[in-house]
Amino acid sequence: MSAALDIRGMSQAFLGREVLSGITLAVDPGEVVALVGPSGSGKSTLIHVAAGLIDPREGRITRRYRRHAMVFQEPRLMPWATAEDNIAFAARLAGQPRRAAREAARAAAAAAHFAAEDLGKFPVELSGGMRQRVAIARALVVRPDFIYFDEPFTALDVALKRRMQDLVLDATGAGHFGAVFVTHDLSEAARVAHRVMVMHPTGQGIDGERRVPGLPGARSEAELFALTQTWLHEDRLFRHIHDVDERRIA
Ligand SMILES: Nc1ncnc2c1ncn2[C@@H]1O[C@H](COP(=O)(O)OP(=O)(O)OP(=O)(O)O)[C@@H](O)[C@H]1O
Ligand SMILES: [Mg+2]
Repeated sequence: MSAALDIRGMSQAFLGREVLSGITLAVDPGEVVALVGPSGSGKSTLIHVAAGLIDPREGRITRRYRRHAMVFQEPRLMPWATAEDNIAFAARLAGQPRRAAREAARAAAAAAHFAAEDLGKFPVELSGGMRQRVAIARALVVRPDFIYFDEPFTALDVALKRRMQDLVLDATGAGHFGAVFVTHDLSEAARVAHRVMVMHPTGQGIDGERRVPGLPGARSEAELFALTQTWLHEDRLFRHIHDVDERRIA
């Protein structure tokens, strides 16, 4: 099977400082790969390069999916447009006629648990979690077969977070999209992903990976709990996961 996303020997530097090196990562169609690592380890940079938003310094990136979407770490909504228009614009850009785009926007908002009565509000009138759900709806509305998620559910409370994870599980279980899913939350990674990649703490690349046993959506709570406890307490690959980036504090 050809990978939907194939990254070979990629490196990236900002202002002469290398933040990623030797990144090789292949994601199969329909596969969800979680990317975990401490703050500053280069997770956002990696997916921005993968999605073609910035060019890598070196390496080759092959994208074999039809259309991707991205859920950014900050929602990045257009402040002058309502929630509905923010979502519908994405559908229009993807080529949908006006009326169809509007209907698709409402359906995507509902799928992202965004209430219909809030669709006329502007971003400034929305809570952080509501804005994040608009951003998720905006990604879903283009019917992507690949999604880059950058800590998409951190602004959500526990119950909503679970429902959004279930949305991802249902969609990927039905083969609708593959994904690279950046998260700080190991239990979230264990729940949604087929495979977990761990970033090196100071951005030297990927330290290693663990395949999550069983299929996403078919793992019990007890299994997930046991697995994350093992990762955290017994698996050295995860030892830096909660480190803080000293350079940011200095
Ligand atoms: N546009 C930029 N210009 C200069 N340096 C940058 C830029 N973007 C990122 N960096 C640096 O690259 C490194 C990796 O940043 P990145 O945002 O990819 O980390 P991250 O793993 O996503 O962190 P977090 O978990 O906090 O979101 C950091 O040291 C950061 O300061
Ligand atoms: Mg980030």
